Amino acid sequence: MTRNVKKIAVIPGDGIGPEVAREAVGVLEHLRGTHGVELELQHFDWGADKFLSEGVSLPEGALEMLSRDFDAILSGAFGDPRVPSNQHAEDILMGMRRGLDLYINLRPVRLLNARLTPLRDRTEADIDFVVFRENTEGAYCGAGGFLKKGTADEVATQEEYNTRRGVERIIVAAFEYARARGRRRVTMADKSNVQRFGGDLWQRVFREVAARYEGIEANHHYADAMAMFMVLNPSQYDVIVTNNLFGDILTDLGAALQGGLGLASSGNIHPGRVSLFEPVHGSAPPLAGKSLANPAGAILSAALMLEYLGFEDAARAVETAVREAVAAGETTRDLGGTLSTEQAGEKIRGRIEKP
Ligand code: NAD
Ligand code: IPM
Ligand code: MN
Repeated sequence: MTRNVKKIAVIPGDGIGPEVAREAVGVLEHLRGTHGVELELQHFDWGADKFLSEGVSLPEGALEMLSRDFDAILSGAFGDPRVPSNQHAEDILMGMRRGLDLYINLRPVRLLNARLTPLRDRTEADIDFVVFRENTEGAYCGAGGFLKKGTADEVATQEEYNTRRGVERIIVAAFEYARARGRRRVTMADKSNVQRFGGDLWQRVFREVAARYEGIEANHHYADAMAMFMVLNPSQYDVIVTNNLFGDILTDLGAALQGGLGLASSGNIHPGRVSLFEPVHGSAPPLAGKSLANPAGAILSAALMLEYLGFEDAARAVETAVREAVAAGETTRDLGGTLSTEQAGEKIRGRIEKP
């Protein structure tokens, strides 16, 4: 079906989620005037409040509706101390990632301003890579169980699965991205020195796929060493591909390298299908309701969404505006500024001009 107006589902979620999502939506609305970006936004109130009052997390038929009626999803964050099990967040977030088969978790790690990194003597040129995190399987498959629960002999198993198809498609996505963006190197992270079976599969598939991409260097680091090298020598990374769990951990480290979780953006993507864009951070309960949250991660996630939808110029304009606002010190407190969430969003919008 060809549509010229893209339809976006907005799911603000919990905690600071609604505060940052509001600013991201504000940017999208602003782009109508500056870049002619026509989006039809529809909000959904899925989150802890709905779960606690109605017992509904991801409503029935939601996945079918999202894939049928929408081009993309923009979300804030999920997680609320009133739901200690995190059940609703699991249902909604994992429900969408797995249920919509969003197998690519794309997480850019890019230093926007040298002042922001906790690393000494590193500049923008040193920290600029992209993580391709497998997003539908691995340790997140929910498989496992208890034996003799609650006794001294209790056994808890927590399984992970790695499918040939799942491993291959994320590695291919990383190489395709490298080729399309002129990136020179793809590095795979795993723990194949201890995780013999899954690791072996990842190793074999990585070598096979790499052989198809002449001119792109393929190398491998154990995930623990990668955590160290990301701190000691981040400039060696261009594109990183890894499994679901290592990707989760390494991208919080990546967020720290670029100035903190408040700036980190992500896309949960299945090329050609409805895909989900969200900041890397969570609902940050201690910050909620205080207008302290940095909206930049959500705004940069909206930029990733714009790029996915084909609005490249608008996406670049948003990134430039965030970079300029950061350089001017127009930020929330996590980046050393004094602005509220709304003021920070307003400053970014104010820097997006007609091309
Ligand atoms: P978190 O990302 O919510 O917060 C960690 C710390 O990072 C915060 O205390 C705050 O200091 C800082 N931070 C995060 N976002 C920020 C922002 N926009 N501006 C300024 N500072 C920011 O992680 P957490 O505390 O481990 O988890 C809180 C809840 O969020 C949990 O329920 C967790 O499961 C959930 N969570 C959800 C998602 C998601 O929905 N995608 C992601 C991560 C965590
Ligand atoms: C993330 C989050 C989620 C994850 C949690 C909230 C389940 O940490 O998006 O990075 O582990 O994937
Ligand atoms: Mn995480």
